[in-house]
Amino acid sequence: MPHRSLVKLLLATAFFVYAFCINHVRAQEMDPRIDWDDAHQWIAPGPNDFRGPCPGLNTLANHGFLPRDGKNLTVSVVADAALKGYRMQQEVVTLAAKLSFLTTNDPVYYTLDDIKLYGVIEHDASLSRHDFALGDNVHFNETIFSTLANSNPGVDYYNITSAGQVMHQRLADSELNNPSIINTEKELHFRSVESAFYLSIMGDPLTGIAPKNFVQIFFREERLPLAEGWKRPSTPINLTTMDLLTSQIAEASNWTSSGGCPWIRLGPDQPVSIVQGT
Ligand code: HEM
Repeated sequence: MPHRSLVKLLLATAFFVYAFCINHVRAQEMDPRIDWDDAHQWIAPGPNDFRGPCPGLNTLANHGFLPRDGKNLTVSVVADAALKGYRMQQEVVTLAAKLSFLTTNDPVYYTLDDIKLYGVIEHDASLSRHDFALGDNVHFNETIFSTLANSNPGVDYYNITSAGQVMHQRLADSELNNPSIINTEKELHFRSVESAFYLSIMGDPLTGIAPKNFVQIFFREERLPLAEGWKRPSTPINLTTMDLLTSQIAEASNWTSSGGCPWIRLGPDQPVSIVQGT
């Protein structure tokens, strides 16, 4: 009899150990522990490190989710980094990560600098960078960013309505100052996605509400505001959450086309041209 009890006890212990291990491995796969203090601490880029016009990717490189030198990027390298750093599903970044191969003649890798090529993803009326025709379309510019920074006065968060208003104002500014502006449905789409990006990763991917100080640190310092209390979104960012936010922001931006049809630049040596609609 005592023998049987001992066997039962051993079996039960083995079962619990097994269940614990399986759950632990699953939890690690779904939510890998991030070593924020060491491998993924924020480090400013050095003089030989490549950075570009995307604050989202620059931040991932500054935290070591992407190669810190900003080189040797592939679709899977970018997708893995977005998943780990922002809890963003692969499906959300795949299109941009593939399109970026059009910005270089290298068939295997691209860099964070390559993606500045005007007319592939890079566009006019950005939130924090100059238009290509007007100045530096790569580096953060506080004057350009002031439209977003000062939006939604009286409260300490940005949301879908304020993001749409900022897009509207930035477009009006480019319309006024940039005679060669390109503003087709393609630009509207990318610009709306980028606004949905900052609201999702710095705030709530479902409601689109994001604390102002988190968003400002993200743009100005290209840093995850961990010390200020930021955590990766508890809701994974996927195409469903992104499509909903993107369409609402686009609607709130009250966009009008400056003419022309959606277009794409096919490579660094290819022209920037636009098909004029009739
Ligand atoms: C991983 C998640 C990402 C986040 C959070 C993010 C965020 C952003 C934001 C907020 C902007 C707007 C900057 C501005 O208007 O001043 C932007 C621009 C840009 N992003 Fe990303 N992005 C992400 C992924 C990507 C990917 C995968 C690519 C391509 C590989 C990419 C390429 C670009 C480019 C080229 C721009 C410049 C567009 C412009 O303003 O002219 N981004 N991104």
